[in-house]
Amino acid sequence: MVEAPGRVTERNDMNTLETRAIKHTLKKHPELLELYGDIRGDLGAVEKTLRLFADSPNKIISEISEYLFQRSGKRIRPALLLICSRIFDYRGEEHVLLSALVETIHTASLIHDDIIDNSDIRRGQDSVHKRWGPNITVLLGDYLYIKTIALSLETSSPAFVRILTDVSTQMIEGELHEYYMSGNLDLGEADYLEIIRKKTAVLFSASCRIGALLGGANVEQERLFAEYGTAIGMSFQIIDDLLDYSGSRKTLGKPVLSDLSEGRITLPMIYTLNQDNGALRDRLAVLFQEKEKDPDAKHKILEIVRSNGALDYTYQQAERYSRKAQALLSGLPESMYRDSLHNIPDYVLYRNR
Ligand code: IPE
Ligand code: IPE
Ligand code: MG
Ligand code: MG
Repeated sequence: MVEAPGRVTERNDMNTLETRAIKHTLKKHPELLELYGDIRGDLGAVEKTLRLFADSPNKIISEISEYLFQRSGKRIRPALLLICSRIFDYRGEEHVLLSALVETIHTASLIHDDIIDNSDIRRGQDSVHKRWGPNITVLLGDYLYIKTIALSLETSSPAFVRILTDVSTQMIEGELHEYYMSGNLDLGEADYLEIIRKKTAVLFSASCRIGALLGGANVEQERLFAEYGTAIGMSFQIIDDLLDYSGSRKTLGKPVLSDLSEGRITLPMIYTLNQDNGALRDRLAVLFQEKEKDPDAKHKILEIVRSNGALDYTYQQAERYSRKAQALLSGLPESMYRDSLHNIPDYVLYRNR
């Protein structure tokens, strides 16, 4: 046990660490500064909690966790949870732990996803499997998932455990469904929307729902916040799929054209396949077959997708979800938190990373 003065120093160190960690995120993503303005203190505390995952006597766990949590992602899911709790004037402490837990589920899903998608780069640095290999990465992802559930058991309501286990199950279902349908040009828009709802939107929805529940939301409010999160998550993933066609590796900090290379059928491709009464479908099917051996085939596919208005269409679908999210807020009283919730769907839409 450290003496009182030592404890003060320790706390100061942690505070500095918290501040530094969230500053790092905001420096990398200055566009988030305004959106996260009111919850910066809370987000700093979330960073500190995330780093507790690195605090393990197991060297490999601490080494990789440190690597994972030092390079900040955008922290959008924890931010949503915090804002949704604050909008109800939540004054407790559990929002910090629960925010760290949704971010950890997200992190676990990403390190598994990078194996599945053969991605060598994430957040601008080597993906975990590139550095430590797939075996260790699978185990670390499992560890993070289970640890999250174990920590959720320490929260005040079994509802949080249920939500987080349900979310993890659905995310895996979504990833499995998407992978299983790789290369299958029959995947329709409804199937695609169901895949992205599960693999991405459920976690956004859970983040907003948990925040609202912490704040004491009634059943109707809980439903509204869950729906708001789903709509943002749908927009977020559609833009992610658009950026895979139109973004840059350097800005995104992850590969581009990865969906095409890996045979993932996303909205730009689905739209193109259905143009001209399916006249392009046969041509695309042939190019899809050839793309493994002929790099030119990939460029031809790209040209077809880009010249058929698919990227505009994809953007418009994301916009529809972002507007839906904003419309759901119309009954909420004016507040700075409501303003943040209103602006996040726009941020999601206009983001380039
Ligand atoms: C990436 O999520 C995975 C998707 C659901 C598209 P983010 O874009 O939120 O990833 P980080 O956390 O900011 O790196
Ligand atoms: C997102 O899927 C991963 C999960 C939601 C589990 P993607 O494969 O589309 O995301 P990125 O582009 O690698 O971040
Ligand atoms: Mg994927
Ligand atoms: Mg991926």
